[in-house]
Amino acid sequence: MTIDRRTIIGASLALAATAAPLPLRASTSRSSFPKNFLWGAATSGHQIEGNNINSDAWVLENVKPTVYSEPSGDAANSFELWPQDLDLVKALGFNCYRFSLEWPRIEPEQGHFSLAMLDHYKAIVDGCRKRGLTPFVTFNHYTTPRWFAARGGWTQPDAADLFARFCDRAARHLAAGIGYAATLNEPNLLRVVRNGLSAAQFAGFKAILDKMSEAAAHSVGSQRFVAGNTINVDDIDAFNKNLIAGHKAGRAAIKAARSDLPVGVTLAIPDDQPVGPNSIRDQVRARTYGAWLEAVRGDDFLGVQNYERVFWDAKGKAEGHPTGDRNAAGEGVYPDSLANSVRYAHSVAKIPIIVTEHGVNSEDDAVRARLIPAALAELKKAIDDGIPVKGYLHWSLLDNFEWIFGYKYRYGLIAFDRSTFKRSPKPSASVLGGIARRNAIR
Ligand code: FCB
Repeated sequence: MTIDRRTIIGASLALAATAAPLPLRASTSRSSFPKNFLWGAATSGHQIEGNNINSDAWVLENVKPTVYSEPSGDAANSFELWPQDLDLVKALGFNCYRFSLEWPRIEPEQGHFSLAMLDHYKAIVDGCRKRGLTPFVTFNHYTTPRWFAARGGWTQPDAADLFARFCDRAARHLAAGIGYAATLNEPNLLRVVRNGLSAAQFAGFKAILDKMSEAAAHSVGSQRFVAGNTINVDDIDAFNKNLIAGHKAGRAAIKAARSDLPVGVTLAIPDDQPVGPNSIRDQVRARTYGAWLEAVRGDDFLGVQNYERVFWDAKGKAEGHPTGDRNAAGEGVYPDSLANSVRYAHSVAKIPIIVTEHGVNSEDDAVRARLIPAALAELKKAIDDGIPVKGYLHWSLLDNFEWIFGYKYRYGLIAFDRSTFKRSPKPSASVLGGIARRNAIR
């Protein structure tokens, strides 16, 4: 029998999965992560709950034309199955679970707040606590209510106040049990995506997106439709300014409900690398993260989310020449990209960091199983160098609805069957679970 690398990994993972759980107590050796390090996985409501019919994304998924490859539908049915998800988080050996509130469920019409939906999320917060898990709650993970998109979404000057009112209502219901709160998820994503497109590519893409937005406006009987997760925005600076105001007002509302609750925001931070002389890398960084990294200075932590490395020469985006693993889109997978992003973010923001997302879209779970320990070894070096990293939350707990790519891209530690919703942990889940239990890579 030939024993290849994958067989060896598979066999050792199977053993790890059946072995008695190691004690959760943090060991004190040099190889240990800091005491009380948060270990876990992340999800977002729209991507796993299903039937989020009052959300802007649901409208966009179901109009014609649409850029969504398929509608979200039932997703992983976590709206009902969240207790199973939490049991899995616990069984894998994690101590933290990141999930999001769906603003469109909680405020389905402007000013109408649903107590039943607030109770739904309260049950998840309480469910975490009952299992000894720290709930990390994102107040808004991209999706906004359809009424909010129909009045212009984040382009409107009163967007921040509307978001803060939602945060106030949700925080008064939920804050007592929450461990960490993030206001917004990746409010800088629009810049990250646009950085990667040439002017001609963007113009072509925008023409299609504009048609989709027009169809959405028509379907909700409005003049416009600006979704939370969008890139066809005309005044990107005004959009960004409103989101920063939204973060600040949202944070103030959450703090007013519970002043000792740690609050932050999560940012998409690719590992931007300079190539050759006169690289534009630093200009790219300044416009993509600059205003945000300044805005977060008074926050309790910054959520860093990294998936990729991007190369910049004097003219723009440059080709990478990956030699190792590649993701499902054919891009290189670089285990040290996470630590580089964390080091950069901390050097500017100067506040504690939590890795709130990191992962890889791959059908081949061995890629994920290799990436996790390799990336964490680099993260540990950053911690040893004095960077205050408080936790690592992998994206994602489950395979899920990956926005315009539908269910094609797989980021999960756990797979699920789309007709029975049965969950099946992958070997990579045991890899990360083992690290979490040991609080050390080995
Ligand atoms: C991040 C998003 C998350 C998911 C992952 C793959 O940018 O926050 O919802 O789409 O990428």
